[in-house]
Amino acid sequence: MKIKKGIILAGGTGSRLYPLTIATNKQLLPIYDKPAIYYPLATLMLAGIQDILFISTPRDLPILQILFGDGSSLGMNFSYQVQHKPGGLPEAFIVGEKFINTEPVAMILGDNFFHAHGLPEILSRAVQSCTGAGIFTHRVEDPSQYGVVVVDKNDTILEIEEKPKNFKSNLAITGLYYFDETVCERAKKLFPSERNELEIVDLLKSYLLEDKLSMSLLGRGTVWFDVGTPRALLDASNYVQVVQDRQGIAIASPEEVAWRMNFISKDPLEKLVNGLPKGRYKQYLHGLVEL
Ligand code: TTP
Repeated sequence: MKIKKGIILAGGTGSRLYPLTIATNKQLLPIYDKPAIYYPLATLMLAGIQDILFISTPRDLPILQILFGDGSSLGMNFSYQVQHKPGGLPEAFIVGEKFINTEPVAMILGDNFFHAHGLPEILSRAVQSCTGAGIFTHRVEDPSQYGVVVVDKNDTILEIEEKPKNFKSNLAITGLYYFDETVCERAKKLFPSERNELEIVDLLKSYLLEDKLSMSLLGRGTVWFDVGTPRALLDASNYVQVVQDRQGIAIASPEEVAWRMNFISKDPLEKLVNGLPKGRYKQYLHGLVEL
């Protein structure tokens, strides 16, 4: 079944980014010239997903609503739900049950940044027909901070480990997933872990036990950051600055992506651009309209 819905999970505590996150949501911090959440939004849009639920804290959800509105100007359909306490990633499927409405769904974490040639094709292929659940993995230097998968030589998943101290694999599970229509029922059956959160690895394991978990390995040409630390936020910002300024392109402009994906035509794009304040962002989009 094709995936038409996506969730952007954008709450959390952001403790590793304190004091930046005392008064600001992590996903509203800048990755160079845009709020961090623009990047995962663009990733879902590039996968062809137009129906998106934002989940965040009671404090931050209203700000996200100001930022994105109902999405109609981008040809999107945005909705919003509060997660009252950061009780873990699978809570998205409990909070979002009504939105999901027993359909398959993609989920991306609001602090995850992906950029690569060919990524839209990889994503749209993955969401074309969803059976079971799917994860995207990436090699990392230090797997001890991530959920990792152990695979055999055919890339079949043998095991999943959460933040392993002695790791058997350096394939980290990134913050982009997709799930079939059974996800809400599975999430409701999970028990909180020692840190009193529902764990995404437990949800993934429920699919793995039934041989219903697949993996796409994002190769070395793919850039992936989770901007959970000041260093990662700076690295991602530097990356975006270098690539954008060198190539004269914008990474993750929702207006541009909506237009390139044919969610909106040139006229609505032009209207959007005319409404923007003077500056580099407007100038860039203006250049597209004039193409
Ligand atoms: P984490 O980085 O695991 O947690 P965090 O954002 O609270 O940061 P820290 O560990 O520094 O305290 O979260 C990953 C993403 O998921 C991030 O975008 C926030 C989001 N999140 C929620 O929205 N709700 C939750 O219950 C959790 C655990 C995370």
